[in-house]
Amino acid sequence: MKVIIAKDYDEMSKKAFEVMKSVVSANKSAVIGLATGSTPIGLYKEMIKDHKENGTSYKEIKTVNLDEYAGLDYSSDQSYVYFMRDNLFDHIDIDLKNTNIENGKAKDRQAECERYNALLEKMQQDIQVLGIGSNGHIAFNEPGTPFGSVTHIVDLTESTIKDNSRLFKSIDEVPRQAFTMGLKNIMNAKKILILANGANKAKAVYGLVKGEVTEGVPASVLQLHPDCTLIVDEAAASLI
Ligand code: PGA
Repeated sequence: MKVIIAKDYDEMSKKAFEVMKSVVSANKSAVIGLATGSTPIGLYKEMIKDHKENGTSYKEIKTVNLDEYAGLDYSSDQSYVYFMRDNLFDHIDIDLKNTNIENGKAKDRQAECERYNALLEKMQQDIQVLGIGSNGHIAFNEPGTPFGSVTHIVDLTESTIKDNSRLFKSIDEVPRQAFTMGLKNIMNAKKILILANGANKAKAVYGLVKGEVTEGVPASVLQLHPDCTLIVDEAAASLI
């Protein structure tokens, strides 16, 4: 794993953008795997700025997102499909038809997982962006998720519900289930770009980089990926 330590969130975001830009410049119809959460917002701001200033085009780019809350769709501003439009897609020239995410409102949740897995088989990510949870999760793959997992429905852990409740009016509004790409779908990406900032991520970053490769720390599977770059700020890098 290549580890880049940035002094702060802004520098982390700029360095992450350099990696993303190298992928979209090399292949104008690349498949880019995207993540939600507060970590990648700075990266998305850099992509928007570059699109506006330098005209970098996303017209032919295709996206796949990691996860979505079960029961939410674009009509909810807490949904991840809403987040992606608000923080990136509405500000670049991407064709929304080329953007993919699990349908949180799908009536048959198992069929939706199968649809998404079939799609991912046809759309290998040229790059997959990831954040990391304070408990070492990636996407909504919580501790104990098998490394061989594909898109599935998860019951969110108390720690994740608590972490995410800051974005909802009250903790009771946080959905208890989500759709998520599995660890195998993530590991299938040609390149992984994982970002982490803040002292509350230091322990998870230790597990990601230096801990035992174990299903108890889902992010540790990335030690087995041939092309994984971690960009981390000093606070999150304090234990490595
Ligand atoms: P965050 O979430 O970017 O909001 O910290 C990361 C994650 O839980 O994967």
